[in-house]
Amino acid sequence: MRFIKPIDKFDGEFTFSGDKSITHRAIMLNAIARGTAIVKNSALGEDCLATCLAMERLGAKIERIENGLKITGAEKLNDEQEINCQNSATTLRLLTGLLVGKGVSAKLYGDNSLSARPMERLAEPLRAVGAKVQTTNGKPPVHVEKSTVLGGEVSLKVPSAQVKSALLLAGLNGKNPIKVIETQPTRDHTERMLENMGANILRGEKEIILSKSELKATDVEVPADISSASYFMALGALKGRVTCKNVGVNRTRTGIFKAFDKLGVKYSINDLRTVCGEEIADVLVEKSALQPIQLTADATMIDELPLIALLCAFANGESRITGAEELKYKESNRILATAQLINSLGGVCVPTIDGFIIEGKGGLAGGKVEGLSDHRITMTGAIGLLASETGGELYSDKSCAVSFPDFFDKLGV
Ligand code: S3P
Repeated sequence: MRFIKPIDKFDGEFTFSGDKSITHRAIMLNAIARGTAIVKNSALGEDCLATCLAMERLGAKIERIENGLKITGAEKLNDEQEINCQNSATTLRLLTGLLVGKGVSAKLYGDNSLSARPMERLAEPLRAVGAKVQTTNGKPPVHVEKSTVLGGEVSLKVPSAQVKSALLLAGLNGKNPIKVIETQPTRDHTERMLENMGANILRGEKEIILSKSELKATDVEVPADISSASYFMALGALKGRVTCKNVGVNRTRTGIFKAFDKLGVKYSINDLRTVCGEEIADVLVEKSALQPIQLTADATMIDELPLIALLCAFANGESRITGAEELKYKESNRILATAQLINSLGGVCVPTIDGFIIEGKGGLAGGKVEGLSDHRITMTGAIGLLASETGGELYSDKSCAVSFPDFFDKLGV
């Protein structure tokens, strides 16, 4: 537990460690590529360490170097490994596809939270392209058997970048190409990195076709994580003026700015440039008078939705967020967890079947927040407490280590 005191003002310029999603992909793809690559500004949280440990176990060589990782791809992956993916669904889901593509058998499992997450959304489309993948009553452990990917066409039933990525990785050694059709855009870091690493990949507006490919080890400079930066942006909007440097602003990740536009948050995206195939920029956010919103959520803002809902509690009036059903399947049920968080701080938030109704009262009193061992709920709770009138107790504060180990140090609390 940590007591969080309220703050009057929050100003500053911040840098952040690398994007978690991009780091997972940079580790996995270089671990199966030909040669050695340097991944600079990699994410340092427990989730990406789980991916490092998994790839080392499978035979890749990974050295921790200053501000990054040096990765030498395994010529052949070790078979029949039991891989602990800890809290990381990205590790488990992407790795399942990758092992399928490499024709390697393994058992993948995780901690209590990961063990409760749905895996048939992953196994079913993989089986449709010829893979032998079994779940345990729809959940982890996931068993991958040696199989040959035949290829084919798959329409994603859920808007999930993890499932899409798993299918693409499964196709790396397929007999025929794999075509993945998306109904809603999801983060496209896998596609961009595969392109950079020499894969045979064709991208249309809603479809991706991947044919058998060998990957070349490729250096990556990972942009600062927009999901980590979003907590600091929110404090800027509530309490001062914040610049977040070198933030990844790939348009499949920037849904939070759509929410900012509606809320009336004053922000600017400056010095836009492209590094290693990903757009980055410096984002300035300033104290703003917030207004209530009607927001249809999508995958481009999925991890920021608890924070967006929190901001609605600082506006005056009723906000409605819909289209957020996927939040139920995260590290906690984030629809219920977010509502509980806002209510425990003295706000009014009603969970709905696919989102929230927030009765904004122009601020929050403070109170006791239970982070539910979910890093995003915990960090959202910390921002709520800092911006509240009295502050209060934050439980399961250690869960930030999953994605943002220096969160409290950077905040200075
Ligand atoms: C991620 C995709 C999203 C996101 C998660 C990371 C990724 O999950 O919520 O934090 O790196 O591909 P889904 O693919 O399940 O939507």
